[in-house]
Amino acid sequence: MARTATSTLPREVAAGAASSAEALDATRARWLAAFRRVRGETEARAACLSPEDQIVQSMTDASPTKWHRAHVTWFFETFLLVPNDPTYTIYDERFPFLFNSYYVAAGPRHARPQRGMITRPNHGDVTGYRAHVDAAVEKLIESVPAAKVDEVFRILEIGLHHEQQHQELLITDILHAFVQNPTDPAYDPAWQPPQPALGPRGFVDVPAGIHPVGHDGEGYFFDNETPRHDELIPPMRINRHLVTNAEWVEFIDAGGYATASLWLSDGWATVQEEAWQAPGYWRQQDGAWHSMTLAGLKPIDPAAPVMHVSYYEADAFARFAGKHLPSEAEWEVSARSGLLADAFGIAWQWTRSAYLPYPGYRAAEGALGEYNGKFMVGQMVLRGSSLATPEGHERVSYRNFFYPPSRWQFSGVRLAAFGA
Ligand SMILES: [Fe+2]
Repeated sequence: MARTATSTLPREVAAGAASSAEALDATRARWLAAFRRVRGETEARAACLSPEDQIVQSMTDASPTKWHRAHVTWFFETFLLVPNDPTYTIYDERFPFLFNSYYVAAGPRHARPQRGMITRPNHGDVTGYRAHVDAAVEKLIESVPAAKVDEVFRILEIGLHHEQQHQELLITDILHAFVQNPTDPAYDPAWQPPQPALGPRGFVDVPAGIHPVGHDGEGYFFDNETPRHDELIPPMRINRHLVTNAEWVEFIDAGGYATASLWLSDGWATVQEEAWQAPGYWRQQDGAWHSMTLAGLKPIDPAAPVMHVSYYEADAFARFAGKHLPSEAEWEVSARSGLLADAFGIAWQWTRSAYLPYPGYRAAEGALGEYNGKFMVGQMVLRGSSLATPEGHERVSYRNFFYPPSRWQFSGVRLAAFGA
């Protein structure tokens, strides 16, 4: 079954919660368990992959598994251990250059397109790096003085959510790599796709009017989900379900990829340049559509939600269908109203909203302020979560964002309708 949004990480410790030694010990234990659970999930996802698999970088947008494992470790080392543990020693002075992603304030970094060139440090070296940082973080969790607990656990929590984001990228990036391999490797031969929800199909009314949008202050959130603000929702309807593969085949068979009038100008140019004729990872074999999945090449399931489509394709399909993509506010109000099946756990859903700051948003000072805010141009928002999103990482106010041509994520389509 598709998932609903839940939270499995401990709530940030409230001021005053550390007032008693007992409460502090309990808080330490919760964070220690959360840290071990998240770090273990990364290694469990990588365990399906050989050291050779973990080196490959199949395109600039994707990163090697080994890099993901090391980068999330660098994040804890740089932002948690170095500022908060005077006894901590950097594991290897060469690693910050290799494993910083885009944090300009944290120092110079290796070029992103060259990450696949790094055969050394090797797989085992990265495993050693993780063990070194794990031990240091666990020691910090267990020994940080009460006066520094709030700050340390605040950064720890960011690091855990950051690592969960990379757990999803680890999966999407290795699938893209496997798609380049003529032998159609399986990430996990036993993997099964999530089943879409049953129930009545079709469009349902969204409550029109002024609604609050953005994080409501309960549980963890990234800064880009704030400030909470009002949005005007017009009279409209939204589809309970995601667009299916069968519906997408109708689009293909009707000449959707060959009809310029359906496409945005940039989208049509991309269709020509990339010779797109179907969603990413689709190919025809023996007269039938197949797709590369985490279990290898499989026949398309007509009833399953379409995945690996770009914003350009989502927009063209909506035009073909005589419908629209919802805005992110329309999606969020619909999800909060309980109108959406498969909002989470199968495919991210493109919205027609550009990734922009909410009214009054300001990024935090310092290196961690680079986390979200500096990317607020040229990208489109996706809502929900995907089959690769770790359990407990999704929430109704979550804003994912990618460039319009991107389709290596598990990205799908939900339609909206306006007017009568
Ligand atoms: Fe990162």
